Amino acid sequence: MNLDALTYAGSLNNLREVQDNPRHTFLRGDICDAALVRRIFAEHAIRTVVHFAAESHVDRSITGPAAFIQTNVVGTFTLLEAARESWANRSKPCRFLHVSTDEVYGALGPDDPAFTESTPYAPNSPYSASKASSDHLVRAYGRTYGLPVLTTNCSNNYGPYQYPEKLIPLMILNALIGKPLPVYGDGRQVRDWLYVEDHCDAILTVLDRGRVGETYNIGGGNEQTNLEIVGRICDLLDRLQPKQAGGSYREQITHVQDRPGHDRRYAIDAGKIRAELGWQPAHAFDDGLAQTVRWYLANQDWVNSIMSERYSEWIALNYAKRPTTDGNF
Ligand code: DAU
Repeated sequence: MNLDALTYAGSLNNLREVQDNPRHTFLRGDICDAALVRRIFAEHAIRTVVHFAAESHVDRSITGPAAFIQTNVVGTFTLLEAARESWANRSKPCRFLHVSTDEVYGALGPDDPAFTESTPYAPNSPYSASKASSDHLVRAYGRTYGLPVLTTNCSNNYGPYQYPEKLIPLMILNALIGKPLPVYGDGRQVRDWLYVEDHCDAILTVLDRGRVGETYNIGGGNEQTNLEIVGRICDLLDRLQPKQAGGSYREQITHVQDRPGHDRRYAIDAGKIRAELGWQPAHAFDDGLAQTVRWYLANQDWVNSIMSERYSEWIALNYAKRPTTDGNF
């Protein structure tokens, strides 16, 4: 049972692979709708919840934080309440897996050790604060009501079907249409990139074998600066789809005004999930990135369906008033 509100980032086109699968049912709805969520639990005898539903883009949380509190905090609370009620007299095992982010831990300095599951929470954006809040609710429902909860905190994902507001797909698509590649600030912020299928595999592993009540960090062990990432995308495109007028896509790189409260570095210590559950990423970054660039080149129909008026409105809101800087930091 796939419950999804199909907000701006959702699309039925993303579900084509499973649309004829008799084990998959799609239902359009909001996790904040308590009556709907309770009905689903009752009618489908739900015993496992994998809670992916979230507002997830940091820049949007800066321009409009309210939706983040609603979906991430109130929505998580609504799901937890429905599970608590429905599982009160459970006779079979149930599991509530909450999918969260490494951003709840705040920012690292260049020489700090990577985030572990015991790193104190220190969120810096409305987005990460809303996710931190939801993590605390999940933990509290486990401790107070004995709800069988698990939480995963993952690093930056990339791969097919990612909405082109995030760094990697935004840069691929901007490059192809000849637009500037807007690097925030000096571009030396560091993220730890993980291929989306590796994240899915980790979630399945935790669902299967994770210890109830525990949290698990998930990461690729692959730290790179934003400038390195954008450079690699340009190099791949130069090979796969050279510019007709000649030159490199790198010429489109433009430094722009930084994101307020921009976290300098994230890095995940995935030692716990590796040691306890035997999970590790299967995709090398070079292969995953090349696969991703090829996917966006081969799926122009999907790209066109996303490039709607709503998308242009977001791009104008986030980038039009962001002054270009000269790149000397
Ligand atoms: O760490 C996990 C998190 O990763 C997830 O919880 C979030 O949902 C996800 O959006 C992502 O957050 P980031 O803020 O790291 O991702 P984003 O793709 O927005 O940006 C990645 C880096 O690139 C970040 O340092 C900001 C920078 N950036 C981003 C955009 C969109 C730019 O320099 N220019 C841009 O236009």
